[in-house]
Amino acid sequence: MKLLITAVKRLRIAPVCSGGGVRGCRSSAARPAAADSGLLSSRDDALVFGSSAELVRHLRPQVEVKTGFITEEEEAEFMRELEPGLRKKRYEFDHWDDAIHGFRETERVRWGAACEEVLTRVRSVAFPDGSALLGPVHILDLDKKGFIKPHVDSVKFCGSTIAGLSLLSDSIMRLVKESNTSDWLDLLLPRRSLYILRNQARYDFTHEILKDEESVFNGQNVPRQRRISVICRNLPV
Ligand code: OGA
Ligand code: MN
Repeated sequence: MKLLITAVKRLRIAPVCSGGGVRGCRSSAARPAAADSGLLSSRDDALVFGSSAELVRHLRPQVEVKTGFITEEEEAEFMRELEPGLRKKRYEFDHWDDAIHGFRETERVRWGAACEEVLTRVRSVAFPDGSALLGPVHILDLDKKGFIKPHVDSVKFCGSTIAGLSLLSDSIMRLVKESNTSDWLDLLLPRRSLYILRNQARYDFTHEILKDEESVFNGQNVPRQRRISVICRNLPV
């Protein structure tokens, strides 16, 4: 267990944003305003917003957000399984070098039937048939004041695809191209949605979850509450 947790911590070894961590990243005030700027993708319009129409088009096949992927009952089922263990841990706020601020985390291999059924659904939509998955599912509990700084998941420990369920709160995930930080994509992750990042979106772009004060999607405030993500990953080939 200890070893696996260490491995999970190492998934985030590269907290990067060219400007140097979260403070170097563009603020939402710096981005082009505009619901009507034509930068929205044509499908799932409301959930993906980017720095240019071309980038949105290019990255769109590698980024999915599925609204209402789980029901309220399924969310409650996850909370019943996860809350007792999480409650025993303290949120970690102190380490400014870490990629995540205001969080507690765990991982789980065995689930009750209802959650296992949801996870089977996640795996079947997110990963190609027969791909080898990271055994334990990663659970990340972000405090209302918590956030995830820009980082790329370790290429050593995880493969081409990251799939995450969002529980308890809406949030914004921002992708920023490592080699050109003016290329960015914001994903609105509604509570109970599933997001999937694949290939370039996973390797060439950092991802982050915005803090409450910066949680603005296409000009619209998206208040952050406590948020729990349930994340499945595959193994590198
Ligand atoms: C991570 C991460 C995203 C999320 O733990 O590496 O990026 O949805 N999590 O919590
Ligand atoms: Mn990550």
